[in-house]
Amino acid sequence: MANIDTDGRLGGKGFQLLIEKVQKDIGFFGAQYKEKCLKRRFNARMRRHNMEDNYWAYIKYLDQYPDEYEKLLKSLTINVTRFFRNLPVFDFLFKKTLSKMIEEKKPGCSLRIWSAGCASGEETYSLAMIALEQKKKWKSDVNISIVGTDIDVDSLRIARAGIYPESALDETPDLFKTKYFEKIGDNYKVVSSLNRLVRFRQQDLFRDSYPRFNDLICCRNVIIYFSKEAQVQLIEKFIQSLARRGYLILGKTETLNAQFSDVFERVNSRERIFRKK
Ligand SMILES: C[S@@+](CC[C@H](N)C(=O)[O-])C[C@H]1O[C@@H](n2cnc3c(N)ncnc32)[C@H](O)[C@@H]1O
Repeated sequence: MANIDTDGRLGGKGFQLLIEKVQKDIGFFGAQYKEKCLKRRFNARMRRHNMEDNYWAYIKYLDQYPDEYEKLLKSLTINVTRFFRNLPVFDFLFKKTLSKMIEEKKPGCSLRIWSAGCASGEETYSLAMIALEQKKKWKSDVNISIVGTDIDVDSLRIARAGIYPESALDETPDLFKTKYFEKIGDNYKVVSSLNRLVRFRQQDLFRDSYPRFNDLICCRNVIIYFSKEAQVQLIEKFIQSLARRGYLILGKTETLNAQFSDVFERVNSRERIFRKK
């Protein structure tokens, strides 16, 4: 049987060259992502142009039509999110973790929260809302700093504008919906006090520097797309950027590699909340 890769089908060299090309042209580090996941995403774009699994043809297409990169990047970075996504984790953070963190902070100190891979900002604003509520409850003067980062500039544009369709608020408890949003036509806009509290910036978790001294890093539904080695690399960097006794939150289907069991204690295994020992 002829080498099935000579015409670029079913991956192999064609796939590798495509990954290298995308990295060279737009700086997207495909090698860090799970191969199966990447192939599914590439193939979805290729099918649109009737190329099926022909990676060579797609390489040529990208040379000819560089505008395709924008759509490809959208497809590679899956931006699905919503406010209070997986409510139980926010409930736990609200009632236990954040409450404890704010209670323990000395007057005038800062509380630093980083939402890594924040997509269009819903997660970042959700964290901001529960932090503000706890601050009020404890009558604390803690200075809350919340930053959301993502690789995708379009998502960040939405995040900064803070305007969302009603469906993004499906899981939002009424208390937060009435207090932190104003209805504008069919959409909901986060109130300006919340919008001002949160900062967004572009960041590639593999290439760019990490914010330091974070009391809490929330990186949910992001590392799931990365290879095991890349996941370990990122967790090591998160450890460096966490403050002493800081918290790390992963997505419901994401796990912490066994090699980190000495570094973190499990605060809530079900909700993937860990604390630096
Ligand atoms: C499924 S969303 C998760 C959004 C939110 N954390 C949540 O759980 O609802 C995954 C996000 O990871 C971002 N992402 C993918 N690769 C990234 C990278 N190398 N650096 C930073 N963000 C990345 C994507 O752009 C996307 O917005």
